[in-house]
Amino acid sequence: MKCDIKTLTLEEKIKLLTGKNCWQSETASGKLPDVFFSDGPHGLRKIDIETEATEKATVMPSLVVLANTWDVELARLDGATIADDCIEKGADVLLAPGINIKRTPLCGRNFEYFSEDPFLAGTLAKAYIEGVQSKGIGTSLKHYCVNNREYDRFYQSSELDERTLREIYLPAFEIAVQAQPWTVMCSYNPINGVWASENKWLLNDVLREEFGFEGVIISDWGAVHNSWRAMKATLDLEMPYRPQAYQELKVGFEKGYITEAEIDARVEKILQLMEKTQNDKKVVTTTKEQRHQNALKIARSGIVLLKNEENILPLKQGSILVLGSFYGMGGGGSALGQTEYCPRSLREELAERLAGKCEVVNGFAKVDNKNWATGMRFAAQEAYGKDVVVICVGNNEQIESEAFDRTTLRLSATQEDMIINTAKVNKNVIVVVTAGSAVDMSAWIDKVKAVVFAGFGGEAASEAVADVLAGNVCPSGKLSETFPLNLADTPTGENRGDGFVDEYREGIFVGYRWYDKKEKEVLFPFGYGLSYAKFEYFDLKLEKKGATEYDVVYMVKNVSDTDGQETSQVYVRDVFAMVSRPEKELKGFTKTALKAGESKQVRVSLDARAFAYYSMPLKKWYVENGEFEILVGASSRDIRLTETISIELPDDEQVTH
Ligand code: GLC
Repeated sequence: MKCDIKTLTLEEKIKLLTGKNCWQSETASGKLPDVFFSDGPHGLRKIDIETEATEKATVMPSLVVLANTWDVELARLDGATIADDCIEKGADVLLAPGINIKRTPLCGRNFEYFSEDPFLAGTLAKAYIEGVQSKGIGTSLKHYCVNNREYDRFYQSSELDERTLREIYLPAFEIAVQAQPWTVMCSYNPINGVWASENKWLLNDVLREEFGFEGVIISDWGAVHNSWRAMKATLDLEMPYRPQAYQELKVGFEKGYITEAEIDARVEKILQLMEKTQNDKKVVTTTKEQRHQNALKIARSGIVLLKNEENILPLKQGSILVLGSFYGMGGGGSALGQTEYCPRSLREELAERLAGKCEVVNGFAKVDNKNWATGMRFAAQEAYGKDVVVICVGNNEQIESEAFDRTTLRLSATQEDMIINTAKVNKNVIVVVTAGSAVDMSAWIDKVKAVVFAGFGGEAASEAVADVLAGNVCPSGKLSETFPLNLADTPTGENRGDGFVDEYREGIFVGYRWYDKKEKEVLFPFGYGLSYAKFEYFDLKLEKKGATEYDVVYMVKNVSDTDGQETSQVYVRDVFAMVSRPEKELKGFTKTALKAGESKQVRVSLDARAFAYYSMPLKKWYVENGEFEILVGASSRDIRLTETISIELPDDEQVTH
């Protein structure tokens, strides 16, 4: 169906620039189809316009879990799975994925985002977008940009230099936009004092002209402060409906601040979006059960085994006490969908998998502040004499959520005490942590034998954890964000800005870039994760394809008797630069399935961008001549293979500083 702008009056065109209600676009008095926007990144959360009830749909693992899979194909599967729910329920554009960089582990929405590293975040987001849009459903890449905490997110200006913006906060958008998301959502906050919704340099010059984004820029819900100023900055669609918007645009037009040509340019983008929604790709190809199985597959692959002393995992035999329960399928806010699936407890899932081998006893159902004393005493009594105790702790939507940040990285005192007290009476404690971001485990980690980080695993969380604990699945997840020893060690510590400005003083040194630069010990490094299998790396070769193009080729071998998957990572280090640079930066990764004893060759291609930094004087990405180290690792702090190359670009491509 061709939507022809010539059939529209000026009034109809102006009205198209704002939503009809909270979730739908205008339709020019029915001449045009409406576009139904719905959250969220972990599954469809469609709100009924009349009743405001949330329609039930598959609750996938949170993006933190998807990121911990390091699996591009699973990212694509995740998107395609959610798209089937969108098709069934009549949503046209999924308001996802969120790719804001995890600058501080306190950020309430970290569970909705991928990583502290822009290359990992952008690469997985691109595949997720492709997965959703392969089914004729649109996406909204968000929140553009530099929206890295929830505190005062509507007003606090993110203040940073252009190199930091270019090297840390824009690249994930630059990579993900290659998938041409149907929309990009601008964030609430100002960037260096200019509202994201009115930031023409970011919206038009960078996103559209430099990155090649062709779709519609929509506002976050309520992020527009003046409709004609936003439109002039090339924001296309203000969401949701706001009564003053039409008047502001009309006055802007009448006063000559905006022209009909500028209005038409925005309307054309919206008409193109409407045409995209009228496609024949919207065919449901999965059943609800298959979607659940896809959620389970991703949840399993994103579980990170952080500690496994004496190989206490997988569970072997004997009596197993399970304490606590899963604290949350996901974090709170617009991303929290509702499933019609009824998950069983971890104890039930374990009992089924270990039948005949282990006696699985259920400790008290849930520790909370009302009966923590009873729970604690019960736990200690019950744990006595058991072969193994599995304690489920973590956060839920009241602790990690949109609209507010955490104030501590630690678990609640109740939960920490439960772990510590149980460990006093039983030395074989396994802790399963459900959370959306880094947790400070320093109070108890030395007292337990194993730690499993399950993220927010969605509706299939307990099945996935049971599969890993029982050994049905070999854990293969790796951390997509650093787990620091404590909050004070993080780049921003307890600082949350002053309510007006949040100064990004750490610059490009975010996440592992920070801990490397400051030579700080961490609890668990970026890219870290254990397995029941064991992998060796060998035979690193660099194949030169051009002055700044190399293929990194190496072998990975599974030297254990357990089939598994290994995510190997390729980092680049500029040995000497005229500017301050991170000690290493992730520029490639591959997840490889390896049967017991199997070896495979891995190939990662590097281009000029893998060696470049953003030069502010030159206002472009720039590769300095000199030596670069190529580091192949099992994590950012477990480098297994290293090679050095020398880049010698012709003089006219080098500049004097
Ligand atoms: C919220 C969120 C955004 C969400 C939108 C619609 O404020 O910031 O991620 O998609 O509004 O719920």
